[in-house]
Amino acid sequence: MRLKIIGSAAGGGFPQWNCNHSLSRAARAGNPGVTPRTQSSLAASPDGQGWVLFNASPDIRQQIAATPELQPQADAPLRSTPIRAVVLTNGDVDHVAGLLSLREREPFALYGTSEVLDVIAGNSIFNVLDPAIVPRRILPLNEAVSLRDADGEDTGLAVESFAVPGKIALYLEDSSDPNADFGSDSGDTIGVKISQRDRDESAAFYIPGCARVDAALKQRLADAACLLFDGTLYTDDEMIAAGVGPKTGQRMGHISMSGDSGAVASLADVAIGRRVFVHINNTNPVLDENSPEHARVRAAGWEIAHDGMELNL
Ligand code: MLT
Ligand code: MN
Repeated sequence: MRLKIIGSAAGGGFPQWNCNHSLSRAARAGNPGVTPRTQSSLAASPDGQGWVLFNASPDIRQQIAATPELQPQADAPLRSTPIRAVVLTNGDVDHVAGLLSLREREPFALYGTSEVLDVIAGNSIFNVLDPAIVPRRILPLNEAVSLRDADGEDTGLAVESFAVPGKIALYLEDSSDPNADFGSDSGDTIGVKISQRDRDESAAFYIPGCARVDAALKQRLADAACLLFDGTLYTDDEMIAAGVGPKTGQRMGHISMSGDSGAVASLADVAIGRRVFVHINNTNPVLDENSPEHARVRAAGWEIAHDGMELNL
């Protein structure tokens, strides 16, 4: 199975369009060790021919332009795509807005939990993807499902989805309730185990949003070949400390890399083949390869995803 991380930044990308924080400035200036990144998305393929996208980011057009495998092949019909299906892990803007760029009456299958597909159905702009051409299929939780393309052909990949502690999408929050935390662990945000038929031992877990690591998640991840995990923030109050916003990571539904209950410490005693941080926010100091935080995370056995990073399992 081939995995390509086509977008490794969190919502906003890196640099973010309106961000004047030192990291975004360094990325814009082309400083060595500070590499720009597009917004969160993963492509997976059993054979390098047909591909399944996990999330469709606002940068999808740029991501396809940077990824020849996702472009129409030379001998393919005049209008075609190797993208057979898109799986959504939540309804956040950085994970669904790219669907609008996949219009043009091109068949592929769209998968999500019933919560997330309800959000898509509730917003008529997504009807640019006519459900007669882009069928919407509910992903049941805790059940392995063979992913099929729009015509029902098996893509060769299976996913098992599971709810993780997270949050409803920002644009669904009710701003009239200042004390609500909008936390959710019932299917608004999911992780997925991606595997190739009969190759369960080389499955990868993709969890770009997760508020905390609990015992159930640790158990699920034990002996995984590969984990691509929420690397939004290094510290919970990082955005407040940087002066760019009032929210903690917990308020946004994201665990931090550091700290006693952070991802590095919480997963330290779980046997995982490769552990890679994805969905990295533009305030996270690990984005600077020369930072002590980057060195610490690498020393703890984690990789920091960059756009175009490929994993073969
Ligand atoms: C998130 O990951 O928390 C969201 O992408 C934030 C957003 O929608 O801007
Ligand atoms: Mn996001």
